[in-house]
Amino acid sequence: MTDSARKARDARQRRLDKGRNQEAAAKRVTKGLQAMIEMPLLEAIAQAGGAARPRDLYGEVAQRLNLDPDVRKEKRGCADQEYAIFDQQVRWTRQTLVGEGLIAGERGIWELTDKGRDKLTRVTRGKVVLIYRLDDGLAFLAHAEEAAGAIEKESLSLVLTSPPYPVVGREYGRFSVPEWLEWMSGLVGMWRDLLRPDGTLAVNLMDVHVPGTPMLSPYVERFSLDAIDNHGLHLAGRMPWHSPNKLGNLEWAVKRRVALRNTVEHVLLFSKTPTPSWDTRRLPSDPYAERSASARKHDARRGHEQRPGGYDINPEAFARDGEGRIPSNLIISGGVGGGGTYASRCREEGLGLHPARFPEEIPRRIIQLATAPGQVVYDPMAGSNTTGKVALDLGRRFISSEPVLEYAQGSALRFSHRPDFRAFPIPA
Ligand SMILES: C[S@@+](CC[C@H](N)C(=O)[O-])C[C@H]1O[C@@H](n2cnc3c(N)ncnc32)[C@H](O)[C@@H]1O
Repeated sequence: MTDSARKARDARQRRLDKGRNQEAAAKRVTKGLQAMIEMPLLEAIAQAGGAARPRDLYGEVAQRLNLDPDVRKEKRGCADQEYAIFDQQVRWTRQTLVGEGLIAGERGIWELTDKGRDKLTRVTRGKVVLIYRLDDGLAFLAHAEEAAGAIEKESLSLVLTSPPYPVVGREYGRFSVPEWLEWMSGLVGMWRDLLRPDGTLAVNLMDVHVPGTPMLSPYVERFSLDAIDNHGLHLAGRMPWHSPNKLGNLEWAVKRRVALRNTVEHVLLFSKTPTPSWDTRRLPSDPYAERSASARKHDARRGHEQRPGGYDINPEAFARDGEGRIPSNLIISGGVGGGGTYASRCREEGLGLHPARFPEEIPRRIIQLATAPGQVVYDPMAGSNTTGKVALDLGRRFISSEPVLEYAQGSALRFSHRPDFRAFPIPA
């Protein structure tokens, strides 16, 4: 083969490889993404006042989805005509929503239709509507502020929730940090009264930046101090949630590279009294790490030592009981909870997927730690009701509340196959 034929063959191979890589990238980006984009896109347009230019929406939708920065940057096409695969997915979702009559069909400006606004319907303030129930579960369509009034005082063993996080600006459904702190303080007071004396409040929060700087807002610390100082709660523990693929802050971590990609969210646990009914034996224990030969030798010596302080070490103290290690407080789990049957049922019913579900591992570990079978777990900002689903799986009872109709209806699909499921009509 001549040199030029070899070069031509290599160039062809490179083109083929590039095409295959781009296909693989496109598949990675698009897998399950379109159904997830729908509600955040409608919410982003509503937040912008009901109409917006596409380029002002892509970043906002990615933020709402907590999208991995590498996925956000994936490109496709030839050198002179490359486009971001994610942005294209958003455009395609918009196209689908135009077809469904949820966004007006004009290009250049994307505008919500009345039908699109309906999809974002929230329950009217002041109303608490029982939307579905099971033998061991009650789901309310309600704002948390009002749902609290429908729950018996001192009846809950655990209040577990993941609230919307605060941001700059006061637009649709979003709070500035001071507003958020005031709102949450009021809710913490209500939730404390609903808890049994041995009950626990667990709140999942993520860091936000001080506007215009890469500094973190100390709102998580302020929230904790308010719960302790003003509501008499006790800081019973922290369970940091490490999500390895979490999106870094777009401005400071991704564009400017002056902040690390923050892969940890907070889960703060408060107890009503210093004696919450926790039992770590309800969690699966962590496996022991493989011991090196020198560590095994050290273990064997330890039982026969006298420490410098003069006390003897009980050889039994280091013996392994075969049950594994005491469970750690660290939760390691990927981003948005796996879709599974919830996602496929939402698609079948034409309901938008909740974009900010937490993985089941979060409620599972907290419920196991803080409650016994049969006890009641309440998620006041239930979204897709991951908490309720896990509570039932673990033999606990649940109460949930969520003000967005679309999300509450989607959450019902987690339970609608069960014989004890009963849905109620939504009053107009
Ligand atoms: C981060 S999401 C919770 C997701 C949930 N953990 C899941 O796994 O699906 C926060 C939820 O709080 C809801 N929310 C917003 N304002 C609320 C309010 N005043 N009362 C109750 N829920 C509210 C939002 O509609 C959203 O579904």
